[in-house]
Order: sequence, then C-alpha cells, then structure tokens
Amino acid sequence: GVGSPMAKAFGFVDYGGPETQEFLDRPPLEAGPGQLAIAVRVAGVNPVDWKIRRGFLGRERQLPAVMGQEASGVVQQVGPGVNGFTPGDEVFGQTAAGAFAEQTLLRAELSALKPEGVGFDQVATLCVSAATADDALRQLALGAGRTLLILGVAGGVGSVAAQLARRGGLTVIGTASDSNRAYVESLGATRIRYGDGVAERIAAAAPDGVDGVLDLVGGDALREVAGVFTDRTELVSTADPATAAEFGGQYVARSTTSETLAALAALVAAGELDPHITHRYPLGHAAEALAAVESGHSHGKVVLEVA
Ligand SMILES: NC(=O)c1ccc[n+]([C@@H]2O[C@H](COP(=O)([O-])OP(=O)(O)OC[C@H]3O[C@@H](n4cnc5c(N)ncnc54)[C@H](OP(=O)(O)O)[C@@H]3O)[C@@H](O)[C@H]2O)c1
Repeated sequence: GVGSPMAKAFGFVDYGGPETQEFLDRPPLEAGPGQLAIAVRVAGVNPVDWKIRRGFLGRERQLPAVMGQEASGVVQQVGPGVNGFTPGDEVFGQTAAGAFAEQTLLRAELSALKPEGVGFDQVATLCVSAATADDALRQLALGAGRTLLILGVAGGVGSVAAQLARRGGLTVIGTASDSNRAYVESLGATRIRYGDGVAERIAAAAPDGVDGVLDLVGGDALREVAGVFTDRTELVSTADPATAAEFGGQYVARSTTSETLAALAALVAAGELDPHITHRYPLGHAAEALAAVESGHSHGKVVLEVA
C-alpha cells in the first residue's frame, strides 16, 4: 500500500482557460502494471499542460484531470511486471496520472534512476523538453561542422537542443527576444532577434545557409524565416506540423526510452548538460507557474517544488 491520507493535487475541472484550474484532493494511487507509485518531489511545467487543458489535444479525458506530464520523486511501490526499480529509489519519469500532485504514478518504461548527487529539480524536466530536443537532433542527424537554426531557442526545448547541438560540434544560431540575448549566448548560440527582417539577419549570420532548422514556435515565426531555406535544409518542428509540412518539414517523432533518459541524466550529472531551471514555484502556486509558461515567453524551465 502507499498510505492513506489524501494527497493534494492541481488540475482542471473543465476544458478551457486558467479559470478551470483547481486544487483537488485525491486518495493515494496504487501502482498498476508497468507503473511506479512515487512521492513527488519536483514536477516540470510545459506548454503541453495548458494545451491539454484548453482541449487542443482532444477532450476525452476523465475530469477533473490532474495536470503535469513529468516528475521526479521517491518510489513508494513498484507495479506488477516492472523490473529495475525498488521502493526508496530516487527516480524521474513521465507520469501516468498527472505530475502536479504530492503523489502520482510514473510509466516505468519512461522512467530512470536519478544519478546520485544530482538534485530532483535537475532531472524533473528531462522527459519532455530535454528528451524532445534529443529526439529532434537525432532526426535531423546533422554532422559536426554543420549549422543549425533553432526557432525559439530560449525555451525549454531550445535550451537543451542548443547545448546538445554544440556538444555535437554544430554551429547554432537561434531566434529569441532581446531580453533573452545574454541567456542564449550563454548556451553557445548566436542570438538573432525575431520579427521584421529576421530572414536577412539569419542570412548575414550564416552566409553559407543553414543545414537544419528546429522549429519550436511554428506559424508566422516559421514562415518568416523560410527565405533562408535551401535544397539541403532539413526542417523538423515540435510546435506546428501543418506549417512545417508546407516547407517539406516533419514533426519530431518521439522515441524516448528509459535508456535515453538515463543518458541525459548522466550528462547532467557530468556537468555537461544544464536543464536551466529558471523559475521554481511551490505546488500551492501552480497557477502562477502555468501562467508563466502559458505566456509563451518564459526562458529555460519552470518547475513546481512539491516536497
Ligand atoms: N511534440 C512533442 O513531443 C513536444 C515536446 C515538447 C515541446 N513541444 C512543443 O514545442 C514548443 C516549444 O516548447 P518549449 O517547452 O520549448 O516552450 P517554452 O519553454 O514555453 O518556450 C517558448 C519560447 O518561445 C519563444 N518565442 C515565443 N515567440 C517566439 C517567436 N515568434 N520567435 C522565436 N521565439 C519565440 C520564447 O522566447 P522569447 O521570450 O525570447 O520570445 C520562449 O522562450 C511548444 O509548442 C511545445 O508544446 C512538443
């Protein structure tokens, strides 16, 4: 068993705006097949959280629904058929039951052990943004010495993509607002201001053109840079598959496993990857954390510190 007191959680009671969000009490969840029950320590906050709440990704969820896709914490109970985890293990992973909660379930096949000496905050955001960045770079498969353009480089996915691409020997240029200039440069990327004239600024920074584009914004932000694409430019998008397809681009296919998550955590432990946790909120301030991400202009990662 996982104990009896009700656990505090944060979710939404109807599809819509932030006004549908509420604190909820729920009984502790038992780990089913393929699951780990955990006491949550830190949860990552992502754009997908508000996209789900707004109904952009379907309206089939049972409501109220606890929000949040990823968490780190301590294993309370290991479900049937799960190997490699024991109660007491410090872990992180993709949730099966919402992450903005004192207690939840992880999908064991999308979970890994937290390396010793690494904070719970440092691994809480690897499943969504870091693993997506990793998948995107694998899909682009650019060799060392090539030039990668990242649209929306200051966000959670972009911050990790820039670091991993630099590690792979790529030249990285990325679009971000003026307020994120120094931050983007600290990632080893050349910062380009987006908006009017952006294609000309990119062309000036990359006179030989760009070999790959990672689009994390979509829509007009993608259309306004299309002038720099050449026959050799590979395009992938996490944000807007329809607009990417207009330019021959592809959606980023997700291929995360426990092994790829463990590899990302090992990079963090070695000091070679920084998830850049920039904003921390206690669970009681979950609405503010979500609002920061929903603004579309947070940089680095926003997390909820649950315990
Ligand atoms: N399919 C998947 O598996 C998957 C996984 C992860 C993420 N995603 C999607 O990928 C997108 C990015 O996610 P994220 O977590 O990195 O978001 P995020 O952390 O919220 O960052 C968004 C960034 O976009 C920048 N931005 C806003 N408007 C811009 C524009 N016109 N041009 C350039 N940059 C702009 C903002 O920086 P400034 O303040 O500098 O404007 C901000 O740093 C979201 O749509 C998310 O849902 C998909």
